[in-house]
Amino acid sequence: MKFDTPAGPNPIDRLKVVGQATDRIDGKYKTTGTAPYAYERHDVVANQAYGYVLGSSIPKGRVTAIDTAEALKAPGVLAVVTTLDTPRIKRGVMNVAYIFGGDVIQHYHQAIAVVVADTFEQARAAAFLVRVDYAPEEGRFDLAAAAKSAQPVPADSGEGSGGNGEERIGDFEAAFAQAPVTLDARYTTADESHAMMEPHATLAAWEGDRLTLWTSNQMIGWGHGSIAKMLGLPKEKVRLDAPYVGGGFGGKLFVRADAILAALGAKAAGRPVKVALTRPLIANNTTHRPATIQRVRIGATADGTITAIAHESTSGNLPEGSPETAVSQTKLLYAGANRLTAMKLAELDLPEGNAMRAPGEAPGLMVLEVAMDEMAEKLGLDPVEFRVRNDTQVDPNDPERPFSHRDLVGCLRLGAERFGWSRRDARPGAVREGRWLVGMGMAAAFRNNLVMKSGARVRLDGTGTVIVETDMTDIGTGSYTIIAQTAAEMMGVPLEQVTVRLGDSDFPVSSGSGGQFGANSATAGVYAACVKLRESVAQRLGFNATDAVFEDGQVRSGNRAVPLTEAVRDGAIAAEDMIEFGKLTEQQQQSTFGAHFVEVAVDVDTAEVRVRRMLCVCAAGRILNPKSARSQVIGGMVMGTGAALMEKLSVDTRRGFFVNHDLAGYEVPVHADIPHQEVIFLDEVDPMSSPMKAKGVGELGICGVGAAVANAIYNATGIRVRDYPLTLDKLL
Ligand code: MOS
Repeated sequence: MKFDTPAGPNPIDRLKVVGQATDRIDGKYKTTGTAPYAYERHDVVANQAYGYVLGSSIPKGRVTAIDTAEALKAPGVLAVVTTLDTPRIKRGVMNVAYIFGGDVIQHYHQAIAVVVADTFEQARAAAFLVRVDYAPEEGRFDLAAAAKSAQPVPADSGEGSGGNGEERIGDFEAAFAQAPVTLDARYTTADESHAMMEPHATLAAWEGDRLTLWTSNQMIGWGHGSIAKMLGLPKEKVRLDAPYVGGGFGGKLFVRADAILAALGAKAAGRPVKVALTRPLIANNTTHRPATIQRVRIGATADGTITAIAHESTSGNLPEGSPETAVSQTKLLYAGANRLTAMKLAELDLPEGNAMRAPGEAPGLMVLEVAMDEMAEKLGLDPVEFRVRNDTQVDPNDPERPFSHRDLVGCLRLGAERFGWSRRDARPGAVREGRWLVGMGMAAAFRNNLVMKSGARVRLDGTGTVIVETDMTDIGTGSYTIIAQTAAEMMGVPLEQVTVRLGDSDFPVSSGSGGQFGANSATAGVYAACVKLRESVAQRLGFNATDAVFEDGQVRSGNRAVPLTEAVRDGAIAAEDMIEFGKLTEQQQQSTFGAHFVEVAVDVDTAEVRVRRMLCVCAAGRILNPKSARSQVIGGMVMGTGAALMEKLSVDTRRGFFVNHDLAGYEVPVHADIPHQEVIFLDEVDPMSSPMKAKGVGELGICGVGAAVANAIYNATGIRVRDYPLTLDKLL
């Protein structure tokens, strides 16, 4: 199904199942420990052995020799595969660093060997008997130092881009110079780790030249193609299966060392092999959100109308890596006739920087929305009012291009009312309760709504059960549930009569889970397949598909009603289709919006920060399942609070690695750090987004929330910190 005209009325609009707050189908399996994760697939294949990955202990240089003799003699050891035995493996989708093979070391803890043994303990013990000689080289590990030689990122297109990494509208410098009120401030954000619960893990088994990987991956379609390319296999010889994924946050968008080394280890050992990356390896072997250095300049008239806005960001990455696109939201969030955005990229020899939940917007809004708070204060304006005043209903780069639907102002107004914003004292440090300084802060949330083509297969079996198969993943987000809701609504059956199967590369290729595009795109793919299934059912039962109503287990038209199961008396019916998004979604700017409100208390002596209340109001199209959507938003709010207050991979700039590479040293918020959270969804639909009229919310919650925390701390204390995370030493 091509989606190239705005969605009209359709069966989803009934909202009997879709749009209802629904418990997650997989919830009971996850909470009872019965959802099988990749490392726990004890049942799928016999005789499993264990692989232990050895990471490079230098950050840059060459491996000159690897002596495996001792390791091979150790108890239980079946095989050792080293990077020197293996030609350099091609990179898969989105890979920056090479995963394995060859003698070049690009970053610390790059995989250099896998030791396979009967037990995990034997593999681990033997790994420490592997002797490695290196020829180290000097590396660059300090972003602040490397920033001096950072290069503009070539802007690929756009008016005024000029190939120098800048995008311009109007004359920023002139307008900024003339503006009566201006802000020019520099900020930094830290390297961050995905810190998902389930580590990267894969069980690999060969049957002749056929490879099956039970793995933990967000994007099965990409992973399937990547594995085939990386291992030089035809795609039909490779199968990936990931029915449950214990979190990803962008860290599992791609194939990593666990999958490649499980496959190579299994081949060498002649047995199925499973590999999980240890926590230290997750920090330094995989990917992270890159640190940034950002500068924001805003010029406004005395009444608070923005006339000039500039946002520049510098980040680092390995050669051929991408920048953290921290300026992207600034192109779209506020009006202003004169605009400049620019990015620079410095080469660093740290582990690979790559996507992490709301890449770009998360660190970009952390900065932009603090700058907006600073500017509002300079203008003597309420920060909510300042944002409302600079709202835009069109793409500021192209007045001909409207937003498909934008209700940022609605979020701001409702949020202010519900949070009791009018009770805020605008004077910093003015409110004290005993030893606590109390403050309120707010910020806008913004994240683009991407759409991706997505396929599904649906089958109505003889019992009237609807079975949905798609390679879509559920990374803890609720995909199983919203897909079941969609099929139930379309086929007119109760939710319990739908079975959803996910994550298998034998199923039709879906959008996968990333960029908050999964919920809308994957359900739209299921919608498309259900439209076809309805046509087949209608035909078998002698109905006209266009006016047949599927409801309450029946197919109805006029006075005639036939049980749905009649259609499958002589056998099941199956249908397959995909949703494909045409130009429509490009003609209008599709984004999601929100407003965060936060109250904090800061200890007057120790500077300990306690977040007391959080509210997020979201405008993100139709909400398919308010319960799982809320969970996504509060999860984002927690993660953004982490970014604001504690999350930072600390770089050893001498030895070139992230030091705090475990969950003791890399701090994330725990229950005690997170207070009452409230989420409100504006009641809206976006017919431009898909037949589901939904948008993503999986990343919206993290966008801007850190700035709201920082702004609340400023309001509480009068101390403006521009280097994040905002650890208490910066307040003393
Ligand atoms: Mo997301 S960072 O595309 O999983």
